[in-house]
Amino acid sequence: MAMKAPASSNSYLLLAPLALLLLAAVVFLLPSLNGARVGSDGLGVLCARRSAGAEDYTVAAPAAATAKEEEEEEKPELSLLVGVLTMPKRYERRDIVRLAYALQPAAARARVDVRFVFCRVTDPVDAQLVALEAMRHGDVVVLDGCEENMNHGKTHAYLSSVPRLFASAPYDYVMKTDDDTYLRVAALADELRGKPRDDVYLGYGYAMGGHPMPFMHGMGYVVSWDVARWVSTAEEILARNDTEGPEDLMVGKWLNLAGRGRNRYDLKPRMYDLSWDMDNFRPDTVAVHMLKDNRRWAAAFSYFNVTAGIKLHHLSP
Ligand SMILES: *[C@@H]1O[C@H](CO)[C@@H](O)[C@H](O)[C@H]1NC(C)=O
Ligand SMILES: *[C@@H]1O[C@H](CO)[C@@H](O)[C@H](O)[C@H]1NC(C)=O
Repeated sequence: MAMKAPASSNSYLLLAPLALLLLAAVVFLLPSLNGARVGSDGLGVLCARRSAGAEDYTVAAPAAATAKEEEEEEKPELSLLVGVLTMPKRYERRDIVRLAYALQPAAARARVDVRFVFCRVTDPVDAQLVALEAMRHGDVVVLDGCEENMNHGKTHAYLSSVPRLFASAPYDYVMKTDDDTYLRVAALADELRGKPRDDVYLGYGYAMGGHPMPFMHGMGYVVSWDVARWVSTAEEILARNDTEGPEDLMVGKWLNLAGRGRNRYDLKPRMYDLSWDMDNFRPDTVAVHMLKDNRRWAAAFSYFNVTAGIKLHHLSP
């Protein structure tokens, strides 16, 4: 392919887990959102050694799965890492977002892993509480190369860290999204399925200066793994201080100046902002953004029938 990134990385970023969990880079891993594992079978069994790197984990099949079922399980056609950039204090939101992902229909023939991405957790209370979440849910990534922020390099720290973090089991694509976006993973996987695996930059194209999509809106965008690897080695980004500024615009700038991410796909109108009146949901949604309070999350769950058929019974009449 045209876009081979250098194989080795001299990234300046150190990536480590919560200070609490010491030395080695640890990623807490959840089973992929694939196959039938996320519905009735539950989350499977997570076997992760705390002292191990990201590569050292296995997800055991649920005990009930028979050999035959495993045989029938189709090989993934694509793999996607979804990073939800969030901040330590947003516990309630994270709870909701975590459930929103866990209760979705699985994406067919795709390996999709969702991680909540933090910069260094400096507050000692948050460090304890986020550590608990990591222990319980196994879906936390803490970047050691940044302070918590949105427009001062967090996206750069994320995109440039994942190629190394997941070097032994790379994904085809890596996504950056936020905790006010409801992403419908199966719909996104279907979009990606027929796309190239290289040099991809996909999202809500933000038209500007006569160009249809010089950058993708920060609600959620996908780059192929080669693009993330390029970001991790592109010293020019740092030399220009191009990690400072609106993160979505800056990602577009890095790629445009370097001629990367040339396979661009605009998923408008299937990615959109929810209106003030919450009346613009669409059945073919890939991602809806601006879910900034519980009421708006509730509207999304209702519209997408997430809780349809579930009755909450009162204990007394
Ligand atoms: C980048 O930022 C640093 C620190 O703010 C500054 O010293 C340097 O001159 C900047 N470089 C460029 C190319 O703007
Ligand atoms: C939700 O369920 C209703 C009733 O079955 C159906 O008409 C509607 O299309 C569903 N909505 C979505 C987004 O799937």
